[in-house]
Amino acid sequence: MKKALITGVTGQDGSYLAEFLLDKGYQVWGLVRRSSDSNTSRIRHLANGPAAASGRFRLAHGNLGDSGSLHRVLGAVRPDEVYNLAAQSDVRISFEIPEETSESAGVGVVRLLEGIRQLGLGARFYQASSSEMFGKVRPAEVPQRETTPFHPRSPYAAAKVFAYHLTRNYRESYGIFAVNGILFNHESPRRGENFVTRKITRGVARIKLGLDQRLRLGNLQAKRDWGYAADYVDAMWRMLQVEEPDDYVVATGRSHSVRDFCDLAFARVGLPLRWSGAGLDEKGHAADGRVLVEIDPEFFRPAEVDALIGDATKARERLGWTPTTSFETLVEMMVDNDLAEIEAEASNQTVDRS
Ligand code: NAP
Ligand code: GDD
Repeated sequence: MKKALITGVTGQDGSYLAEFLLDKGYQVWGLVRRSSDSNTSRIRHLANGPAAASGRFRLAHGNLGDSGSLHRVLGAVRPDEVYNLAAQSDVRISFEIPEETSESAGVGVVRLLEGIRQLGLGARFYQASSSEMFGKVRPAEVPQRETTPFHPRSPYAAAKVFAYHLTRNYRESYGIFAVNGILFNHESPRRGENFVTRKITRGVARIKLGLDQRLRLGNLQAKRDWGYAADYVDAMWRMLQVEEPDDYVVATGRSHSVRDFCDLAFARVGLPLRWSGAGLDEKGHAADGRVLVEIDPEFFRPAEVDALIGDATKARERLGWTPTTSFETLVEMMVDNDLAEIEAEASNQTVDRS
């Protein structure tokens, strides 16, 4: 039985990847950091399910800031594959906690790779690199692919660029099978509530249910290439199954604005938006004129990434990977989930966020 270690198993991607690898017959170990309250809501069904009972799903305490814990877990598990998904992954918050972000998203990768090297494990290593590394993209570099230069625009993106190069360096210096998945934004009903997609779908559901009046957002013009997280963990796995280690862009090839996302999400609950004004005065109205969306400069960033769109031709040709879920389906899935979840919260039930 193959053994995989997932750092960041409690996050959006970690939870989908754990399910995916268990389905493939792996023994899955997840690295969990200590927290004063439960941080395992996304994997509770696994931790309480048959895979845990049979020992195929196991958790170990550790932190990307603590080399000793990483070496202990690597040495005890001796995994065949390591998926490094752990990081402080919120771009805006990275401006407020740049040091912690650099530690987890940047230096943490050195600690893991050194552990693999010093223990002589021969494990294959996946690094969660990001389209944020492309940052300020010039017109000639649209869409972005593996050869597009990086221009990071946040402490988060700068740390990810460091980790990207470190991963390549360990591959070239020590022959470790280490790859970068350069993933564009991917979302799901399990997405953290501060990211714009989930903030919108939860906001729409709360407005529809009469719990909130309006949604406050930052830059509505920003454009992203949004895919479905469950599709993207399949690409991570494929990158570790090929003969030669390499780096791959994973994206849908379609880009939409935050405003487009709002339009579809509100329309899904029967509240189509009409926009008025511009800049800080831009507003989204319901048919009866009520303001449902307004701008709050609190959500602007010191430096913005205006638009991203990826070209995943290499992943399609060499890994056989293609996305299965359209932008429209993704928005509908997230809105429908949040309507059900928030209604259930109100009546103290739980909902399956598959
Ligand atoms: P996420 O939901 O924010 O999950 C991040 C995970 O990292 C959580 O399990 C978190 O633990 C853990 N973590 C943070 N700091 C840690 C530390 N010091 N030690 C150990 N664990 C730590 O992120 P995601 O969306 O699943 O993304 C997974 C990875 O892919 C991240 O590295 C992210 O930067 C990268 N990425 C994401 C996207 C995207 O669109 N989702 C795109 C490109 C790259 P807690 O649960 O305890 O907080
Ligand atoms: N979070 C947030 N909140 N973003 C907003 C808001 C708001 O109220 N209003 C507008 N936005 C804009 C942001 O300025 C940004 O341009 C865009 O919406 C997307 O923001 P996020 O959803 O926070 O994601 P991100 O693109 O910054 O970063 C995510 O994707 C990266 C891959 O490109 C994260 O998952 C990163 O970890 C990941 O690497």
